[in-house]
Amino acid sequence: MVFHVPVLLKETSDLLLTNLSGTYFDGTLGFGGHTSFFLNQLNKNAKVIATDKDVAAFNHCEEKFSGDERITIYNSSFTEIKNISLMENVIGYDGIFADLGVSSFQFDNKEAGFTYREEADLDLRMNKSVGEPAFKFINQAEANEIADVIYKYGEEKNSRRIARNIITEREIKFIKTTTQLKEIIQKVVPVKNLNKTLSRVFQALRIYVNNELEELKLFLEKSVELLNEGGRIVILSYHSLEDRIVKDFFKHASLKCVCPPEMPICTCDKKSTLNIITRKPIIAGESEVKSNPRARSAKLRVAQKI
Ligand SMILES: C[S@@+](CC[C@H](N)C(=O)[O-])C[C@H]1O[C@@H](n2cnc3c(N)ncnc32)[C@H](O)[C@@H]1O
Repeated sequence: MVFHVPVLLKETSDLLLTNLSGTYFDGTLGFGGHTSFFLNQLNKNAKVIATDKDVAAFNHCEEKFSGDERITIYNSSFTEIKNISLMENVIGYDGIFADLGVSSFQFDNKEAGFTYREEADLDLRMNKSVGEPAFKFINQAEANEIADVIYKYGEEKNSRRIARNIITEREIKFIKTTTQLKEIIQKVVPVKNLNKTLSRVFQALRIYVNNELEELKLFLEKSVELLNEGGRIVILSYHSLEDRIVKDFFKHASLKCVCPPEMPICTCDKKSTLNIITRKPIIAGESEVKSNPRARSAKLRVAQKI
């Protein structure tokens, strides 16, 4: 069974592995596609620390990599990178990698409730023991809070109408499943836009319940501190808001000064901590997109610690 086809595999590996005996961090191990490729190239004395929030991904990889002493895996958020590194006696990394979002396995897995195509509890959390399921949010929040989440994280223009209908329907019956939400949206959105709207709403709720954008910002901040000089941070994103966060973070970290232009001399004491390696993001070629549609929205950005 193919759990997940890794995106931009060779490009990622070529840009990440600058020292074949180095120490690396994969924050989003998933089904180990990228990391298995990295390990095949790394020397015997290299080390990889990896995290995944999802217990199914963690269990799969514990088994998959059980014979390889170079890798240690945690069922945890990548925001724990500092604590985990302390526990592992790692002072600095030669490369830190994240391949954001959800895996194809999570998406296609009926019980996970990530897709409107399957009947399941409307949960949408990658780690079911952290935070609250999406159904709790849509049954308790005010209409404007629901609309804001759908608009901000899904860029869905019918957000207000959808939120109002959620409020109406939840007074009749508690909303618990993916199918119930799909039917509520179906009532207020034209058929021709339905699939796109459903994808956007489910994606928005997923980003919200997993706190994805805030976690990404925290991860980037902590990662820069933990990179060795010359070490690289390599991020693959699939959503414009994620890519914007990575781009802005790299840009800000690369600046030597953030004083307003009218200041005659620099007083900000800002130091540049990263060199941007990819001025424009690397994207997948036509043949990769053809064989793996998930690659279509991928953007790869890389920066190097100064
Ligand atoms: C796109 S998949 C990674 C696929 C992986 N590169 C591979 O080749 O198999 C993203 C994975 O990241 C995990 N994930 C997302 N956000 C996370 C976070 N904040 N901390 C840890 N894992 C996270 C998801 O559970 C999912 O398994």
